[in-house]
Amino acid sequence: MTTLDARPSTDALVVAHSPGAPDGEWWRDAVIYQVYPRSFADGSGDGIGDLPGITSRLDHLAELGVDAVWLSPFYRSPQADAGYDVSDYRDVDPLFGTLDDFDAMLARAHGLGLRVIVDLVPNHTSDEHAWFVEALAAGPGSPARERYLFREGRGEDGQEPPNNWQSIFGGPAWTRLPDGQWYLHLFDSRQPDLNWEHPEVRAEFEDVLRFWLDRGVDGFRIDVAHGMVKAPGLPDWDGHVSMIEGSEQAFEEAEHALHEHASGAAERVDEVTGSGNQGPMFDQEGVHDIYRAWHRVLAEYDGDRALVAEAWVEPLSRLARYVRPDEMHQAFNFAFLATLWHAPSLRDVITASYLASDSVGAPTTWVLSNHDVVRHASRLGLATPGSRPNGIGADDEQPDEELGLRRARCATLLMLGLPGSAYLYQGEELGLPDHTTLPADVRQDPAFFRTQGAELGRDGCRVPLPWSAQEPGFGFSPTGEAWLPQPSTWARYAADAQRGVPGSTYETYRTALRVRRAEALGSGGLTWLPSRDDVLDLVNRDVRVVANLGTEPVELPAGTRVLLASGPLDAAADGTLLIGSDTTVWVRP
Ligand code: NOJ
Repeated sequence: MTTLDARPSTDALVVAHSPGAPDGEWWRDAVIYQVYPRSFADGSGDGIGDLPGITSRLDHLAELGVDAVWLSPFYRSPQADAGYDVSDYRDVDPLFGTLDDFDAMLARAHGLGLRVIVDLVPNHTSDEHAWFVEALAAGPGSPARERYLFREGRGEDGQEPPNNWQSIFGGPAWTRLPDGQWYLHLFDSRQPDLNWEHPEVRAEFEDVLRFWLDRGVDGFRIDVAHGMVKAPGLPDWDGHVSMIEGSEQAFEEAEHALHEHASGAAERVDEVTGSGNQGPMFDQEGVHDIYRAWHRVLAEYDGDRALVAEAWVEPLSRLARYVRPDEMHQAFNFAFLATLWHAPSLRDVITASYLASDSVGAPTTWVLSNHDVVRHASRLGLATPGSRPNGIGADDEQPDEELGLRRARCATLLMLGLPGSAYLYQGEELGLPDHTTLPADVRQDPAFFRTQGAELGRDGCRVPLPWSAQEPGFGFSPTGEAWLPQPSTWARYAADAQRGVPGSTYETYRTALRVRRAEALGSGGLTWLPSRDDVLDLVNRDVRVVANLGTEPVELPAGTRVLLASGPLDAAADGTLLIGSDTTVWVRP
């Protein structure tokens, strides 16, 4: 047993980040809740979530205590990649409602004091976008084809693709047309990549930004922010394009590297995380000009509008370049999300994150779950946490649900105790796991089909939310319909089964957000206190955050005031409180 050091000597403290002003720009310390529209709440009864459904449930988010909402795409789209294939950037898909429904949702959100960020998908359009339809009809050599990346093939009669790039969803990144030309798609063949060297493409997206800014949105999440500009000549590349969180092989290599160097300097994180999405299709210098231009567009508007980068860029020092003062405002910290359940690694990645973001004056932007990864309640419940990054199916090891939830809550309280901004993914406030036994015939993720099922894909984390334990379909839709089946065990996760229940995941999140706001933790500073290797012990303003990832309990000094704990605390015979395994507490230092 270890007792927390009540008063560590000052020379043992490591300051990783100094506090900022509590009333800085809103996005620096905001907690932002990701709504995945098709799975949040269904108003129409067709089993697919929609904008009126979102509006009807915004009270839940205000009550939870988040500052803002980010909506994944709801634009016109044939839904080949669940809306990340946009055919009209200025309209709402009838599946989700109308522009009037959007305005009503935005007005309600603003009325509740919630800001709203929408998703912008600039790397590619849908194959049903007017530009692509025009390009196909216009034929090879036409100006309409110059807005995309059409090329002649290699080999005899151009039968071979123009280069060897692979799609992130599996298979070649090129598709050949009957007229003989090929077009590039880093994702599905129904998501042709735009040519960002083309002035019309640049002008169009600035106009799309203005369209939504004029409607009143508070910012944009930029999809594939690291991919829009490709290296000149589109050279061959033999590296691996990882499917978001990485391959199992990459995972094993990272785990090996981390355990070889159990703890160490922050620079080592750059070494360990430095093998990500590199290559001629990612993180090219030219993308930064685009963000400088967009920064200027947003700056014309009042109210601190913000851009957040979805850039799977490593190492962290490269990611920081997206949030330089004249570029974007935030960039998701996926290095943190992908870190193993290993206290020294987490400490390293957290410290490195502050070093990197402080060097450009940006906030760190924490995230543990989203619509592209296995939910943290599930990935942390695997024997080797995180070992199934491409989805979990019925034939795979099933996560230990109780362990996963305990660790997920522990991880969340660690994250929310840190300075910076944080994103929550819908349902994590309920402790939702992935659906880990979805049958193949209901799967919809293009990655599943393009890899012939080798990657199960992301449907498991996209299952419609349970609102009411006793209603059909757990109250997701008035008809009980749901576009993906919900596990029958989800009654216990339903929002109405947790509201008002002390210690429920929902109430724990709510308290965490209240204390975080009251104590100004988001704009605070981080000082590491000396601790056991498997314990993270830090002070942020007047709150001490202790996360025990080890198996041995940690004893709280007598008289410590506990503000919040991610799980029940045991008491020793003399009444001393013990922080058990996989538990985080917030205490008054
Ligand atoms: C990242 C999005 O988050 C993901 O859902 C989508 O499939 C790809 N970008 C392609 O747009």
